[in-house]
Amino acid sequence: MKRHSGQDRSITQNWRPATLAVRGGTARSEYGETSEAMFLTSGYCYDRAEDAAARFAGEQTGMTYSRLQNPTVEMLEQRIALLEGAEACRTMATGMAAMTAVLLCQLQQGDHVVAGRAAFGSCRWLVDTLLPKFGIQSTTVDARDPQAFEDAVRPNTKVFFFETPANPTMDVVDLRAVCGIARERGITSVVDNAFATPALQRPMDFGADVTAYSATKMMDGQGRVLAGAVCGTQDFIDNTLLPFTRNTGPTLSAFNAWVVLKGLETLDLRIRRQSENALAVGRFLEGRVPRILHPGLPSHPQHDLAMSQMSAVGGIFAFEVADRAQAHALLNALELIDISNNIGDSRSLMTHPASTTHYGVAPEARAEMGVTEGLLRLNVGLEDPQDLIDDLDRALRQVGL
Ligand SMILES: Cc1ncc(COP(=O)(O)O)c(C=O)c1O
Repeated sequence: MKRHSGQDRSITQNWRPATLAVRGGTARSEYGETSEAMFLTSGYCYDRAEDAAARFAGEQTGMTYSRLQNPTVEMLEQRIALLEGAEACRTMATGMAAMTAVLLCQLQQGDHVVAGRAAFGSCRWLVDTLLPKFGIQSTTVDARDPQAFEDAVRPNTKVFFFETPANPTMDVVDLRAVCGIARERGITSVVDNAFATPALQRPMDFGADVTAYSATKMMDGQGRVLAGAVCGTQDFIDNTLLPFTRNTGPTLSAFNAWVVLKGLETLDLRIRRQSENALAVGRFLEGRVPRILHPGLPSHPQHDLAMSQMSAVGGIFAFEVADRAQAHALLNALELIDISNNIGDSRSLMTHPASTTHYGVAPEARAEMGVTEGLLRLNVGLEDPQDLIDDLDRALRQVGL
């Protein structure tokens, strides 16, 4: 592989995010291709047996096996790390592989985790079900209140784990306050930044230690592949995360890495337009539906906090209608917006979390985190917002709203 300026930190450190999104991490083969090459290979060959031995011993740079290294995957990892302002990044096969790895790589029996109670259903399952199975205690708190984290700390607390904004209630966590509490106590703060992405919010700028992603969402951005990522210091990635992932194997495929690399080139454009569209749709829904959960709207109780740590709020928000029957009827009345539990797509998608993404969360926990029977989550895409408003207007009238 030939060096490209996108690989040289002394050069990339002067580049702005739009440049990093297109060129950061790029490496070129001897053919000088403009678009990043896709290396669909599981293994690598060596000129001599001694070279293989030297690479395994870490005495020679180079690749050994695609569970451990792959040129296309490494380009993506460098690009995400540069956008995030992190020393290093490791990608994974899915967002959930990233969340599982980032927790299990650093926790052991007897440890304790404090987690935000509003979270994606599978993230709650990790905290509520998987960790306790291995003797790791967990406490869930209302993450909108930094004091709740402080109050939940025990002598054995090792990790704070939360999403901001959270899926699907859009709870916003005060990054500076909560990460500050973690820092003071030697606790590692892990922020699931899937909704915002580094294009809108860089948690490390506010003191977060580690960020984790479902890159399936805004980073791919067109609903094509599943992917995940974890960013942190070089020491955390190399010495805490890698020993776990090298041997357990939640590796991202080169093909999927290539798709996400291409997605990152347009991330900033997409997420800003989707944020504008979501605000337009949110303004339309405000007052028309019983309750709207969109931190980009000035009426949202956490609007000022959201705007102090995000440059825009993104394309996803939630709102409430009366109950499950009305929520399902509204979904069924849509003609343009699709019924789908995915998010981050350039297509507008809507789901009823209580019966889909949060179906597996116990009803009491769902109620506690605000996933009511009437809650709907909307991913606003890149369509003309007036067409989305027209679709919603017609569907709302059909269900009597
Ligand atoms: C906040 C959040 N974290 C993690 C995940 C899991 O990501 P994946 O579906 O890529 O495994 C999701 C998926 O919706 C999510 O919304």
